[in-house]
Amino acid sequence: MKQQLEQIRATAQLAIENAKSVQEIEELRVKYLGKKGELTAILKQMGGLSAEERPVIGQLANEVRGSIEAAIAEQGEKMKKAALNEKLQKETLDITMPSKTTKQGGLHPINIVLNDLIDIFQSMGFDVVDGPEVETDYYNFEALNVPADHPARDMQDTFFLNENTILRSQTSAAQIRTMEQRKPPIKMVCPGRVFRADEVDATHSPVFHQMEGLVVDKGITMCDLKGVLEQFAKEIYGEDTKVKFRPSFFPFTEPSVEVDVSCSECGGKGCRVCKGSGWIEILGAGMVHPNVLRRCGIDPEVYSGFAFGIGIDRLAITRYKISDIRLLFENDVRFLEQF
Ligand code: DAH
Repeated sequence: MKQQLEQIRATAQLAIENAKSVQEIEELRVKYLGKKGELTAILKQMGGLSAEERPVIGQLANEVRGSIEAAIAEQGEKMKKAALNEKLQKETLDITMPSKTTKQGGLHPINIVLNDLIDIFQSMGFDVVDGPEVETDYYNFEALNVPADHPARDMQDTFFLNENTILRSQTSAAQIRTMEQRKPPIKMVCPGRVFRADEVDATHSPVFHQMEGLVVDKGITMCDLKGVLEQFAKEIYGEDTKVKFRPSFFPFTEPSVEVDVSCSECGGKGCRVCKGSGWIEILGAGMVHPNVLRRCGIDPEVYSGFAFGIGIDRLAITRYKISDIRLLFENDVRFLEQF
């Protein structure tokens, strides 16, 4: 029996050392130490031993069990380490590899300027309204006091979809739509795209952007117009900006003005941005013509108002010193990334 035990110890030891997987070890554990295992089988025969032999064999059997258990534990540990090493080796990390960058988009310069304009006018209590880009002749011209054959139409030749439907040439059309829908007091701005049949060059594009403004209430005067537009110019170009109102003509305002600001680049001395004049023209404005109010059902004897139209592209170009308006529409990422 002693021999048998020694034999089991030796073969088990060898088998365990040669085991290649956790599963193999588990099988060996069952084979030697399990309920039906070899060691258990021998212990079952202990009853047949003499009183002297029994403790000796018992002790040896325990030793054998202990050494097999130890061998199993040791081999298991070795295998775990080997598995870990293999994993680490396979998963080597190259920290010199360039990381995956996510490209973050940004706002188009037109939208940056537009958002600023909206902020300024909203802070003065203006609503923001929307108007259609495809307009009727009536809203774009007729109701704005520009009947068919009026010479002012020449400057705003646009794209006709049919005889009465056009791509709007000015956001001023939104004045009429607003006055038809709401009663005074009205205080709104309407930003958007406008279209004209212009040849493309460094300063002209057949598509550009405007922001219309309209205020109608009792007792609105030219003073209100000047106050609002001066405040706007200072917020956009800085507190020291000088503002100049020049008489002008628009069919839908009377009197009409054009508004210039002192050049923010040279402070009025004359430079490339202001083309040497010291001034930059930023918008057209005026007191809403009584004909326009009347046509929208607003009594010009009771109400008065002022309106203005700002060229958003022009603002973007002067603010960012962009040399060519086409850059705004080509959407070359190398250009857009600068804003
Ligand atoms: N709609 C005019 C244009 O495109 C700009 C303009 C001038 C708008 C005077 C106005 C205004 O509201 O009062 O040239």
